[in-house]
Amino acid sequence: MARHKIALIGAGQIGGTLAHLVGLKELGDVVLFDIAEGIPQGKGLDIAESAPVDGFDAKYQGANDYADIAGADVIIVTAGVPRKPGMSRDDLLGINLKVMEAVGNGIKQYAPNAFVICITNPLDAMVWALQKFSGLAPEKIVGMAGVLDSARFRHFLAEEFNVSVEDVTAFVLGGHGDDMVPLVRYSTVAGVPLPDLVKMGWTTQEKLDAMVERTRKGGGEIVNLLKTGSAFYAPAASAIAMAESYLRDKKRVLPCAAYLTGQYGIKDMFVGVPIVIGSNGVERIVEVSFSGDEKAMFEKSVASVQGLVDACKQINPALA
Ligand code: APR
Repeated sequence: MARHKIALIGAGQIGGTLAHLVGLKELGDVVLFDIAEGIPQGKGLDIAESAPVDGFDAKYQGANDYADIAGADVIIVTAGVPRKPGMSRDDLLGINLKVMEAVGNGIKQYAPNAFVICITNPLDAMVWALQKFSGLAPEKIVGMAGVLDSARFRHFLAEEFNVSVEDVTAFVLGGHGDDMVPLVRYSTVAGVPLPDLVKMGWTTQEKLDAMVERTRKGGGEIVNLLKTGSAFYAPAASAIAMAESYLRDKKRVLPCAAYLTGQYGIKDMFVGVPIVIGSNGVERIVEVSFSGDEKAMFEKSVASVQGLVDACKQINPALA
């Protein structure tokens, strides 16, 4: 069987890390696309030259023409501008909406059957716009947010409890903003829910609340430290987990921004919910029930996403 073809639109910090991970995991051949000339070619060649050392086989091609993404099985989109200190994800809206239009047109023309993972922020609005511009079937396009947000939460929890990250599960719903909804009731250490661990004296409610808050602001914490860009290692790892589940038909249950058609009472929006990703793309949307507080938090988060989608429609009336 021929190798899979993976196109990465945007060859910046996340794009380069994605390209490296695709090789290390032997997921397929890589096309790195960017509007900047030389960068995708240079990063592709640099990674290809690491392959003999690490012992993986993958072809790398740098590209500045959308024709080169033709026939891609998976496309991961990071094209756009990342946050600078003091900027919210929403400040990026106008700039990155134009980028999504160009990327959507390229996908529509050259790779309309690909499974597309969007990372560009503000995520829930950008993946919504990209679906409209590309005309992709809603089950073939998702946004990467929840895997990253829950990985951050898992890291904080594993550190607090001094246990392996492998045994910590976390459940984060809603939009990829500061009002995302980490659900402690569904987050566990080896199956034991966090509220039980508080009762068992493993941590206190105050510390748990602080970890939830740190998770919500996890992206901003990195932006403030880096000063010149936003997180890239964990976002790239998260998108690769999603791509792998599609390419290997693993049917993993992952929190992603998915197109809702009435689930959770929401229509025509992408919101972070648990989904099953297999060879058909989004194969199932998991609907969990909320307690009163959780429902209010989820609704607040969805209202923020709705605000961003409305702002997109105002900037580009063709989306309305
Ligand atoms: N088409 C293709 N590539 C583009 C376009 C475009 N229209 N506009 C910008 N780019 C490229 C830039 O040239 C750059 O190489 O997108 C790349 C973005 O890379 P970085 O600036 O390094 O940003 P990165 O950290 O990778 O984050 C990308 O993901 O997490 C989100 O908020 C983040 O929206 C941002 C995106």
